[in-house]
Amino acid sequence: MTGRLDSPLVRHDVPLAAFTTFKVGGPARYLAEVSDEEQLLAVLDAAPADLPVLVLGRGSNVVVSDEGYDGLIVRLRGTFLEVEVGGDGIVRAGAGVALPRLARAAAAAGRGGLEFYLGIPGSVGGAVRMNAGGHGRDTAAVLRDARIMTVPARDVRTVPVEALGLGYRSSALTDDDVVLGARFVTVPADPATLESRSREIARWRREHQPGGTRNAGSVFKNPPGTSAGRLIDEAGLKGLRRGGAMVSTLHANFLVAEEGATARDIWELVGEVRRRVEAATGIRLEPELRFVGRFEGEEPG
Ligand code: EPU
Repeated sequence: MTGRLDSPLVRHDVPLAAFTTFKVGGPARYLAEVSDEEQLLAVLDAAPADLPVLVLGRGSNVVVSDEGYDGLIVRLRGTFLEVEVGGDGIVRAGAGVALPRLARAAAAAGRGGLEFYLGIPGSVGGAVRMNAGGHGRDTAAVLRDARIMTVPARDVRTVPVEALGLGYRSSALTDDDVVLGARFVTVPADPATLESRSREIARWRREHQPGGTRNAGSVFKNPPGTSAGRLIDEAGLKGLRRGGAMVSTLHANFLVAEEGATARDIWELVGEVRRRVEAATGIRLEPELRFVGRFEGEEPG
């Protein structure tokens, strides 16, 4: 138990389910919605030093425990949701900007290269942290730099892409680092070509991914040389259920949660899929999903 956090920007015992794409999970002990860096600093300064802090982006890659989160959840609003396409083709975006919106904003200004983000449900902050990718591209290929705050020192700096240690769905950023924003490099593109490429990606997505359901994008990282979706499919696990959670029948690396599903259902299903794929192939899948708060056991499966 830590000391109390009192700040006009902070609410207490706030249900988190609505802020995640799975729509499950309990309350945050504290929740702050901040509009700019100044407000973020004010909230952090008011928080006890040992209080766990987590910045939630689109909530598209997290499962919040049914018991909730015994710390401070920060939601980035206001200026963190702004996108600006410069005349030089550099696109500046706040960490809370949704990746499909980033792609559309660039395309609307006649700039290409970010269309692959149309298929990824996360935010700019999440993309930097995870080196999000798809359709043969990843964030490392289009990022110029990111604005990062290291929370304990309140140190804010612009880190060039080369210094972020981006690897496959990974970076050198730690839990102490918060992504505040990023700048992306784009290329001039013919509007008709951009339009048809964007349509193609949207169509591919509708056919291959369970859009419109409660899901969190890809559940597992792709193991070297193969894909998690294929392995789960080949193990015959499409449609496998635990409570209100089910392996998507459209794409095996997506889980869908019905109304009434719990975080525990998702945790157990992730564990079961992991065990069964390991038994069938010897490959232990690594979750891309992040579990937040208390769950039974160290990791699912
Ligand atoms: N496959 C199956 N069965 C399935 C699903 C997929 O056999 O049920 C096979 C496909 O036929 C394909 C391979 O597995 O040969 C890979 O599948 P897919 O092309 O759908 O790509 P993915 O690797 O599963 C990645 C990203 C997605 C992104 C797509 C777009 C990861 C972990 N995921 O999916 O990103 O939308 O590419 O290209 O790299 C996300 O990260 O949350 C996300 C949605």
